[in-house]
This record gives sequence, C-alpha cells and structure tokens, in this order.
Amino acid sequence: MSLQKKSKITIADILNKKKNKEKITMLTSYDYSISRICNQTDLDMVLIGDSAATVMMGYDSTRKIGMTEMLTFCKGVVNAITRQVVVADMPFGSYQLGKSISIKNAFKFLRCGCDAVKLEGGSEIVDIIKNMTELGIPVMGHIGLKPQTTPLHHGYVSQGKTAEEAIILLNEARALEKAGVFSIVLEKVTSEVASVITDNINVPIIGIGCGPHVDGQVLVIHDMLGLYKDFEPKFVKKYLNLSDQIFDAINAYETEVKSGKFPQEEHMYHMTDEEFTKLEKILKRV
Ligand code: KIV
Repeated sequence: MSLQKKSKITIADILNKKKNKEKITMLTSYDYSISRICNQTDLDMVLIGDSAATVMMGYDSTRKIGMTEMLTFCKGVVNAITRQVVVADMPFGSYQLGKSISIKNAFKFLRCGCDAVKLEGGSEIVDIIKNMTELGIPVMGHIGLKPQTTPLHHGYVSQGKTAEEAIILLNEARALEKAGVFSIVLEKVTSEVASVITDNINVPIIGIGCGPHVDGQVLVIHDMLGLYKDFEPKFVKKYLNLSDQIFDAINAYETEVKSGKFPQEEHMYHMTDEEFTKLEKILKRV
C-alpha cells in the first residue's frame, strides 16, 4: 500500500476521462477505516451510497435511511479521503419535498465535505436537479433500476429489455444531461442499451450491472469484498471472501482466549522486578 500523497481528482478530471476514453472507477464506502484504504488507491470516486441502509444499518430497504444517518457516514468518509471525488447519495424523501428543502439538504452534504450529491430519478426530478446545478451544486444522476422506487412496482429486474424501454431510458439520460448532471449512474440495464446511452450522452455513464460498454463501473464495496452475503446479484464480482475470513478470525480468537493461547509474551506490559518486589512487600503488610 503506497503512502505517497497524490493530488485530488476533480470533476473536470472525471469529464476528461470520458473524452479520453479512460475508464472511471467508483466504489461505495461508508466509514473512515475503509475510506483510508480507498484513499491510497487510484480509484476515481467514492460514493457514500444509500446502500448504507442495508449493509451498514440492516434495514430492508434504502427508503429507510435518513439525512442524519447519511451525514454521519459522510463525516467518516470525508475525514479519510483527500484523493477521490466524494459523492453522497441523497436519501429518499430528502429531495422530493420542494426546491428549498432539497437545496438545503444538498448543501448539508457539501458543507460536510462531499464534492457532489447523487439523486435517483429521471424526468420526474429534472427540475429539482436543474435548480441544484444552476446554483453550482455538482449532481450525479441515477437511472435504470432505482432501488428507492423501482422494486416497489417491478422488483429488482433488469431494465431496458425492449426497444421502447431503451428509448425511454435514453430520453431520461438526455433530460439529466440537459439539467446539468456531471455523470449518470446506470443500474442493471441491458448491456446493449447501456452501450447506446454511453455513445449518445456526453457526460460519463457509470454502470452497475450494465456490462463493459460504459464509461466506468461502480460496485457496493461490501459486495465485492464478499462481506455481505444476503444479496449476491449476478453482476457482482467477488474479489475477496471477507465474511468467511472474519468468521474464521473471530472463531480463532474465541478458541485461543479459552485455551490460554492468547495473549502471549509479545502482547503484555511489565513492571520492573524492583517495583514488583516493592508491591509484594506492601501487599504482605495489608
Ligand atoms: O447506494 C448505492 O450504493 C448506489 C450504487 C449501487 C450505485 O446507488
């Protein structure tokens, strides 16, 4: 792990990557310790996703997380990240209640130290996004499968399976681009449609479950580390099996404490012999 300090990646750098046909990388992170590791890598962006609802809080839906919890996760992340563009997901209900409330909530994330906010939705929220981008708030869009709303009506099914659906998605991406987003997350969309959208939109398209023909990729870090086993979608590649490793480590600790194998000499602190003799004399007196 290199400790060399690298310069901060900017939103302009992200836009240039699309122009230069360089792939963009993003992962979610929700706390200080993991974000410190991300900060040592060449990852481009870190997303404090509202997936925190499930992987950090154990809720059964991303609709259940609120501003206070999201801002707490953001604080841990921004205290660690000096390199990547930090994007915060605006939780369900924080940007649907009118212009001033959504802008006020977006500013809370920027004031916390995040570089941008992400909002789930297409044509139904372009006016809200436009209000934000006109005020200089960097916004990332999110269309395709929208976990805050899609599963209610359709379940976690892939999007863009018909030509009609493809045109709707392309028009949504166009509307977001016009509203001033600097990039768009496209979730669980067929590879063919993801490719068409990527070729027809000027801002970077960051795919999750959309195949390789997009400008960049994002995954939930718990999924790619194999830390969260309740949800294992086909589009995730597991780079580690961390939950098994943690399970083994906890069992080893438990066994070693009970058998007396831990702690050993290297884990202890000692008094000098002189002080210990002194202590023994005092103890005899009392
Ligand atoms: O909340 C999240 O983690 C996300 C990613 C899946 C893109 O929105």
